[in-house]
Amino acid sequence: MAVGILLVGGFGTRLKPLTSESPKPMLPVAGLPVTEHQLLAAKRAGIHTLVLATSYLSEVFTPYFGDGSKWGMKILYAVEKEPLGTGGAIRNAAQLLDLESLGDEPIVIFNGDVLSRHSIADQITYHQSKSADATLHLIEVEDARAFGCVPTDDDGRVTAFLEKMENPVTNSINAGCYVFHPSVLQRIPLGEVVSIERETFPALVASGRPVFGYKEQAYWLDVGTPAALFKGSRDLIEGEFHAMPGCEIDASAVISGKSSLGSKVRVGANVVIDDCIIGDEVTIEDGARLSQCFIFHKTTIKAGTVQSRHYLSSTISEPINLP
Ligand code: GTP
Repeated sequence: MAVGILLVGGFGTRLKPLTSESPKPMLPVAGLPVTEHQLLAAKRAGIHTLVLATSYLSEVFTPYFGDGSKWGMKILYAVEKEPLGTGGAIRNAAQLLDLESLGDEPIVIFNGDVLSRHSIADQITYHQSKSADATLHLIEVEDARAFGCVPTDDDGRVTAFLEKMENPVTNSINAGCYVFHPSVLQRIPLGEVVSIERETFPALVASGRPVFGYKEQAYWLDVGTPAALFKGSRDLIEGEFHAMPGCEIDASAVISGKSSLGSKVRVGANVVIDDCIIGDEVTIEDGARLSQCFIFHKTTIKAGTVQSRHYLSSTISEPINLP
């Protein structure tokens, strides 16, 4: 058994304009918010209580996830008036978990913008077998220049946290899922802006505390940019497209490119949709042709609209930066 904290309060600036009206973790991939994919993975790993550490557009999460009973979990909400950074957010959220009563029960922290099929349960087991303060999921990437690198010794112990560099010393990078012993979180200052990556982890390693790397190469994707978000959605879809329950699609419509349609989407006659992400309760009127568009919940696309690489909502129409 374990408890978890999901970091979902960032501004998601690299995803603009997709994050103009939605926090990044609530953007849909394959019909469900990124956060819901993570919640389902956490549940499979035996996590029974999850705190959502929110800030930017915090009000969006509660109506969707409620008390968590729909997923058979307990969900709590921590709200930062001003974003406290990743470490500050974790410390703030941990207050809701009553750290002292947890004993040795591990706390799993998730970056809210990662799709990963690694075994969280195995990461927890590894963490416990090492009696670690913290255990990070590490993933090997071909080109590590854009990431912080995390070298480990032969026993899996983390030896350093290195900022982005031209010639990385290792291809192992921080994959954004950490297991902590509860006592470690108590040492993060409360109510202050703290970065877990730049301050907490380096300080733990420098002071000789046991920090370990759990290496697993299962499917992993950071959905921090529009191109990555579209890829993440396509990766989860098997056929030509995926439609959530309640959609009404005219027989003459052509939907391809692993497009995803949220619930209750209405697609009119002769509509063409290719490689699009479409939110819930969207209406696409007859003859519209859409390619690589992200359409926000409850938007109506007028008949005959032709658009590509755009974010479309009731109030916004802006280009999306896609390669
Ligand atoms: P960019 O602005 O595009 O870099 O995205 P971001 O703001 O989401 O930052 P980043 O990708 O570095 O954040 C990693 C994870 O931590 C994401 O899931 C964020 O939602 C979350 N996060 C980042 N900063 C904060 C914060 O201050 N508070 C909370 N609660 N979460 C945060």
